[in-house]
Amino acid sequence: MKQVILQENLKPVSTIGIGCMRIASMNEKEADTFIHTALDASINFFDEADIYGGGKSEEVLGTFLHNSPSEREKMFIQSKCGIRKGFFDFSKEHILSSVDGILSRLHTDHLDSLLLHRPDILMDVNEVQEAFDELYQSGKVLAFGVSNMSSGHMSYLSKYIHQKLITNQLQVSCAHTPIIDALLHVDMHDTWSVDHDGGVLPYMMENGISLQCWSPLQKGYFEGVFLNDPEYKELNDTLDSIASKYKVEKDTIAYAWLLKIPCSTQVITGTTKPERILSAAKAMDIDLTKEEWYQIYTSAGNILP
Ligand SMILES: NC(=O)c1ccc[n+]([C@@H]2O[C@H](COP(=O)([O-])OP(=O)(O)OC[C@H]3O[C@@H](n4cnc5c(N)ncnc54)[C@H](OP(=O)(O)O)[C@@H]3O)[C@@H](O)[C@H]2O)c1
Repeated sequence: MKQVILQENLKPVSTIGIGCMRIASMNEKEADTFIHTALDASINFFDEADIYGGGKSEEVLGTFLHNSPSEREKMFIQSKCGIRKGFFDFSKEHILSSVDGILSRLHTDHLDSLLLHRPDILMDVNEVQEAFDELYQSGKVLAFGVSNMSSGHMSYLSKYIHQKLITNQLQVSCAHTPIIDALLHVDMHDTWSVDHDGGVLPYMMENGISLQCWSPLQKGYFEGVFLNDPEYKELNDTLDSIASKYKVEKDTIAYAWLLKIPCSTQVITGTTKPERILSAAKAMDIDLTKEEWYQIYTSAGNILP
């Protein structure tokens, strides 16, 4: 599936997204080629955060939008706020001032969606409600979501805010599957049964909250890509073999594996190479079989009970 509709009032968005965390050092020409490669490959989703490159990643995308304003209409631009130096902050004042900074760096008058980046345990939900209302009513933000949140966090927030949460951005890859493991081991005593997230995936499925997968090729927390890593030999062999069947590169299969998760799923690639954007785009046309999906899961070192 190439596109997903996150909410009725929003434009359809591609299931592969461009993560902008690593684009801060691109010059204008490089960024132009990079972004046009994505758009030409039917990828219209761009994921930013105010902290990426200390704001520079948004400036790079913003320079593109300034130079090519007619492209804005086709693009779905999302950013995130709430992470500050050494703490998390969902105060009304911080959310509102962050969005003003984001819009000015991006040279746009609105975000298609805004995510709260990491849970602020000390948040006052009434302040989040007021900030979201102000942003929505002023047209600065069309929709809202969260990132790295459990089902409990989302359920609590949803009781107070007046807008539906459209998405939760979570870390998941073939080699990093905590949101899946516990679901398969619900009644076991093994390590896979540890439920870190309160059954976040079924909660999202039930409530129509889409899954956005971040770091789709990483093992651990920014420990490097698992592709061609000898520690993940069996996984790489399996990906190679399935890739040759579909006549694509194995990164395409790693993205297709994530897109198979039935939660209006999107995958946010962090590549900075135009040719690798094209590999990611091909995943939108691949529907792995169930057998292939479970084979990839177990070849990453996971067991089925
Ligand atoms: N919500 C959150 O808390 C959160 C946290 C982190 C990230 N994110 C989002 O997720 C996006 C993706 O994260 P990420 O950058 O960690 O994801 P990633 O796609 O797993 O990793 C990107 C890295 O993998 C390399 N890579 C890509 N394809 C490769 C291949 N075929 N072979 C070898 N290396 C390859 C890239 O190098 P090249 O550039 O050379 O291709 C880049 O260094 C970010 O941009 C951001 O938007 C969100």
